[in-house]
Amino acid sequence: MTETVLVVPGDGIGQEVVPAAVEVLEAVADFEFVEADAGDHVKVETGEALPEETYRRATEADATLFGAAGESAADVILPLREAVGSFANVRPARAYPGVDALRPETDLVFVRENTEGVYSGIESEIADGVTTLTRVITDDASRRIADYGFEYAAENGYDDVTVAHKANVMRTTDGQFLESVRSVGDERGAEYDEALMDALAMLLLLRPEEYGVVICPNLAGDMLSDLAAGLVGGLGLLPSANVGPENALFEPVHGSAPDIAGEGVANPAATILSAAMLLEHLEYADEAATVREAVESVLADGPRTPDLGGSASTEDVTAAVVDRL
Ligand code: NAI
Ligand code: MG
Repeated sequence: MTETVLVVPGDGIGQEVVPAAVEVLEAVADFEFVEADAGDHVKVETGEALPEETYRRATEADATLFGAAGESAADVILPLREAVGSFANVRPARAYPGVDALRPETDLVFVRENTEGVYSGIESEIADGVTTLTRVITDDASRRIADYGFEYAAENGYDDVTVAHKANVMRTTDGQFLESVRSVGDERGAEYDEALMDALAMLLLLRPEEYGVVICPNLAGDMLSDLAAGLVGGLGLLPSANVGPENALFEPVHGSAPDIAGEGVANPAATILSAAMLLEHLEYADEAATVREAVESVLADGPRTPDLGGSASTEDVTAAVVDRL
């Protein structure tokens, strides 16, 4: 069976790093690629950032590789994550030999609940200058993310699992999150720690080596994973997966980077590493490992893009990765 991979480059450097990742995928697997459009440039032409056809194709494909959108990011990526039914946002943040990292001992994976919390979209202005937001936390979604997080840790050899929460203040909602995660952890006989999310932000900065998989509510996962990007040398290196029961979407954590778009110098590593996660998801484990090793070898020996202190182009780095496969 040939798997279908939907490719949505989007805006800015998405147009540069996604073709780079596709080139790598083509070198190791035999997928059928379908390309679709989304983002600011589509909105300018049609008034809608996410064409219905792109959404539909994401529901139909076996997996989607997305680049980035610009100002319309929320209008594009939130529906696309929903199109693939994703409930878990998986964000590994690893330091690599050869890359100048604030904390070279960092090897973290954020497993972030991807459907509710403060990103439920239930906001209103109840009076002039007075606004509210409803934070939704359910037992179902919390148990589902906990199960995914504990399973991920077991399968990928992480001994340390930490549950981030703020149940001392958000007693009802994070009280529920914590209770649900605890019940899953206890049913599985898993070992884990609990941490208040604000203190955890500091501890991850000071002692990242003491942490592995971090299971988080939606907003906490968004913020803590960006903090971890800073620990390992920048956004050009961070891949992510949005995983559902059957389908999934893979994307770099970074955005469209308008400051460097069009210059051909974007670091393709984050998107190529996202493609490696896609390979793993489609059960091409050996190919995924090969791609990761090739990226690690290029990060260690060069060539490197300017964000990592080099002067190579996106194409140079991509060619070097393909060369090492
Ligand atoms: P950004 O991630 O696009 O860029 C932040 C900084 O990191 C910039 O200096 C950029 O040049 C650098 N950078 C990012 N990726 C890089 C790469 N692969 N290689 C080298 N340098 C890289 O975030 P920013 O500037 O906050 O947002 C720019 C636009 O992207 C905004 O319109 C925002 O809405 C959108 N965005 C979209 C996201 C998505 O589609 N998932 C996520 C984050 C932002
Ligand atoms: Mg973010």
